[in-house]
Amino acid sequence: MLGKDQLVELQLIETEAGMKPLQGVMMELEDGAYPLLSKVTATTDLNEGFGDCNYAMLIGAKPRGPGMERKDLLSANAQIFADQGKALNDSAAVNAKVLVIGNPANTNALVASANAPDMWPEQFIAMTRLDQSRAQALLAEKVGVPVKDVDRVVIWGNHSATQYPDLSYARVNGKWAKDVINDEKWIREDFIPRVQKRGAEIIGARGASSAASAASAGIDTIRDLHLGTTDQWQSNGIVSDGTYGIRQGLWYSVPTVCNGDSHYRRVLNLPIDEFSAEKMNLTEKELLEERDGVRHLLPKETNGTVTWNVLASLKDAWEAGDMSSVDKIASTMPPGFQKSVEAAKAAS
Ligand SMILES: NC(=O)c1ccc[n+]([C@@H]2O[C@H](COP(=O)([O-])OP(=O)(O)OC[C@H]3O[C@@H](n4cnc5c(N)ncnc54)[C@H](O)[C@@H]3O)[C@@H](O)[C@H]2O)c1
Repeated sequence: MLGKDQLVELQLIETEAGMKPLQGVMMELEDGAYPLLSKVTATTDLNEGFGDCNYAMLIGAKPRGPGMERKDLLSANAQIFADQGKALNDSAAVNAKVLVIGNPANTNALVASANAPDMWPEQFIAMTRLDQSRAQALLAEKVGVPVKDVDRVVIWGNHSATQYPDLSYARVNGKWAKDVINDEKWIREDFIPRVQKRGAEIIGARGASSAASAASAGIDTIRDLHLGTTDQWQSNGIVSDGTYGIRQGLWYSVPTVCNGDSHYRRVLNLPIDEFSAEKMNLTEKELLEERDGVRHLLPKETNGTVTWNVLASLKDAWEAGDMSSVDKIASTMPPGFQKSVEAAKAAS
């Protein structure tokens, strides 16, 4: 996940009730004799578990059971992510990246970030890579090629049944997928709903949420962020800056590129047709409703709309003359921003 020579230390967090089964997981990790796994620890203490971590994968949550919609999970799970956001803020490495997998992933990422005032909202990603993988697999099956031959499949919006899997820019061996498929009815009436409902289909079959494919998607997300990819696009649920008309401050899945510096960049200026715009609005509407359902967990100053908390923290530290905090916060920001801070310091 982090490169073929990078040793990894795993700091696992569980509930009291989950500690015994976790011991079994740890024994299996030991018996796997993974050459890059240098140390494994387990704790119920969030600050200890997140202590100095570089990547945090937030998986611990109540899973959706048969017949349950993701919205049902909202209030049960959001509190977990508020607590985890606070602990990440206090204990994680200053540049830590956080991948939120537990559902409802997008809104949990919003809650975690809003409770981590010293962290840049861009440090939090809600996982929609599994949806992208599902869509790629379905497209590859349809056109009869290996999955590696399809790319630029995009997932817009929420990791839920309102997500919009979009083939507008997808390619099959470099040719436009829509031309290769030549069947808009299949895209609209088969492909889109099948990807949207794949999670529920797996729960129906297994009686449990997807496991191996979700783990694989988590690894893919972090690997691409850390090591970068060539000209591939990755869909990630990231904080909206208003691009594509998406409400600022929502965690909304968009296509990104990662060039291996642990940061993502949005793919900009894609043409959006009327059909896509309608689907994108629908999933945005659901995210707004979810946000309204967790307002009690969003600190007042963010009001759940814009969570650029880090800017507010920087301003507070500056006004208090606390330059070591200014430097600490600025070090989490993009280089251009750091230069502005340095210039402001020199001028003051
Ligand atoms: N984003 C995605 O693509 C995706 C895919 C699959 C699953 N999920 C979600 O991931 C989550 C986990 O699913 P699962 O099937 O692994 O569930 P699971 O019940 O098998 O495992 C959840 C684990 O989290 C632990 N846990 C619960 N609350 C915790 C807390 N507060 N702190 C620490 N640990 C806690 C539980 O003890 C359990 O071991 C669910 O929310 C599920 O919906 C998301």
